[in-house]
Amino acid sequence: MNKINIAIDGPAAAGKSTIAKRVAEALRMVYVDTGAMYRAITLAHLNNQETSFKELVGQLELRLINDDGQRVLLNGEDITDRIRENDITENVSFVASQQEVREFLVQLQQLMTRDKGVVMDGRDIGTTVIPDAELKIYMIASVEERANRRLLDNAARGIVSTYDQLVADISERDHLDMTRDISPLSKAEDAIQIDTTGLTIDKVTERILALAEEKLQ
Ligand code: CDP
Ligand code: CDP
Repeated sequence: MNKINIAIDGPAAAGKSTIAKRVAEALRMVYVDTGAMYRAITLAHLNNQETSFKELVGQLELRLINDDGQRVLLNGEDITDRIRENDITENVSFVASQQEVREFLVQLQQLMTRDKGVVMDGRDIGTTVIPDAELKIYMIASVEERANRRLLDNAARGIVSTYDQLVADISERDHLDMTRDISPLSKAEDAIQIDTTGLTIDKVTERILALAEEKLQ
């Protein structure tokens, strides 16, 4: 098989986007961070709170650019850094639970993966977006390690946060994402679970590359 899709799902800060990006680079595949798409719609919602979700998604022009990672453009404006800020993180799970938002993004994501060659990370990729993906990974890590990782991420981005605040935020978001009515976060039956607690980025990347090479033979 010369072209495959790889689906990577799991809770917040499990390491999905970092590793998905590395895997995509190594295999010359396209990397898509679907969390950024939900974050972009959250920004549009916060800027237009009177507008219904149905109307909001109808007005959006969302572009993803692969450029040493992924840059996100909303109606022509680069919002890549803006969508990592606390107000977006606090509201994104609510926005992602809206049916109109999920239908809009899932359709877009399915178009992006139609010709294969994509590494896509999110919450419902292996279960809903590409249920026929050749390789599915379900990535987890302890909440303590995930909060510590996000603390470092935020500090590097100049975002103020504390360890306790991050444990609370991550736990609440995991709960909302796992219990929502439409395509909640769950492990696809045929996904391979990788616990990244205590594992380096290189180790996890190597493991997924080995699994992908098997599928590519
Ligand atoms: O990077 P982090 O784990 O903090 O989150 P993200 O991947 O940027 O995703 C932000 C939020 O978008 C998640 O907490 C989910 O509520 C939502 N999401 C989703 O519902 N489905 C996806 N495929 C991706 C993200
Ligand atoms: O995409 P997701 O929210 O699952 O996580 P991420 O943003 O890729 O990873 C969160 C942070 O953990 C990043 O700063 C990664 O560099 C770090 N990380 C790590 O320290 N060890 C790993 N095995 C994976 C990620």
